Amino acid sequence: MASGNQAMATALSFGTTFLCVQSVKRTMAAHWSESDMPSLADMTIVVTGANSGLGYEGTRAFAEKGATVVMACRSTERGEQAAREIRQHVSDGDLDVRECDLADLSSVARFAEEYTGDYDELHVLCNNAGVMALPRSETADGFEKQFGINHLGHFALTGHLLDVLAATDGARVVTQSSGAHRQGEIDFEDLQRERSYGRWSAYAQSKLANVLFGYELDRRSSEADLDLASVVCHPGYADTDLQRRAGEAGGGVVGAALATVVNRLFAQSSETGVLPMLYAATHEDIEGGEYVGPGGLMNMRGAPEPQRSSDRSDDEDTAARLWERSEDLTGVTYEFDVPVTAE
Ligand SMILES: NC(=O)c1ccc[n+]([C@@H]2O[C@H](COP(=O)([O-])OP(=O)(O)OC[C@H]3O[C@@H](n4cnc5c(N)ncnc54)[C@H](OP(=O)(O)O)[C@@H]3O)[C@@H](O)[C@H]2O)c1
Repeated sequence: MASGNQAMATALSFGTTFLCVQSVKRTMAAHWSESDMPSLADMTIVVTGANSGLGYEGTRAFAEKGATVVMACRSTERGEQAAREIRQHVSDGDLDVRECDLADLSSVARFAEEYTGDYDELHVLCNNAGVMALPRSETADGFEKQFGINHLGHFALTGHLLDVLAATDGARVVTQSSGAHRQGEIDFEDLQRERSYGRWSAYAQSKLANVLFGYELDRRSSEADLDLASVVCHPGYADTDLQRRAGEAGGGVVGAALATVVNRLFAQSSETGVLPMLYAATHEDIEGGEYVGPGGLMNMRGAPEPQRSSDRSDDEDTAARLWERSEDLTGVTYEFDVPVTAE
């Protein structure tokens, strides 16, 4: 009986400590802004989808703090154009534009091979690029596009870069999900949504896959004792090209115009929307397996804070099953037990 009471007391005190730590973290985050980011001099950061929206703002902010930013873009032309614009704000910005089309696994492999040929370290990988609510179409490898680009492309990219991440002290992988992950279901019988396709449910599936992947990567990395934290974030609702492209895909010019108007009225700026990604990538209190998003109105806007993702995203069996299927589909196997040493 005494030992039962003791166990209860220990559990209560553990629970209270956990709640206190979470509440302190939330309070400290309440006013966090870009200027609170530490210096990132000597750090190398890869951002996918760096030419537009949140990827663009993230690249600019990281460069302003002194990081070398490798802009992984599907079009180097659009990437170079974005780099020119960023250099107008950050004249000494160290930007390196490279091709990485997440809808083509050979492009992803080529990007990683060239990266590891040229760089010895990777401090932060921001798996940010994404598409939303497209009519059904397929990637070069025959995957449904939203699942293929948002999840499988990033799964393959991270796997190819695992050794260089593991060889870097305190590396982080930050995966950009969405509040839409809460509506997501992983349909293992029809992952590519060939039998029944809804453009929003396919998006939600891909965004739930982002969270499951981010957490599973963190569990596997810590089991293998890697100095690698995997964190998931979401931007709330930010004014970017994402909604315009989705509007255009669903309703042509009128759909795009409507999305633009609604964005102007209700969305926060992309500079604010990117804060959870910046926070997840650089805040010293952030640990692997955390989920970061805006703490304001309905978690759609405001300063970033650690939050809770959906119950479904915490399901470790689903995460492990998705991991195995992702390895099979992409042919990229994560070798956690291979010892890695920095040059
Ligand atoms: N904005 C929001 O309110 C919101 C809300 C929730 C989640 N998110 C997430 O935030 C992330 C960034 O989106 P955003 O809002 O910044 O939208 P965005 O302005 O449309 O940017 C998306 C980026 O992804 C890139 N991309 C698309 N397909 C690609 C591919 N096959 N290979 C490589 N890159 C590709 C785009 O490149 P191109 O310019 O060449 O097409 C673009 O750079 C996405 O993962 C999205 O799901 C955004």
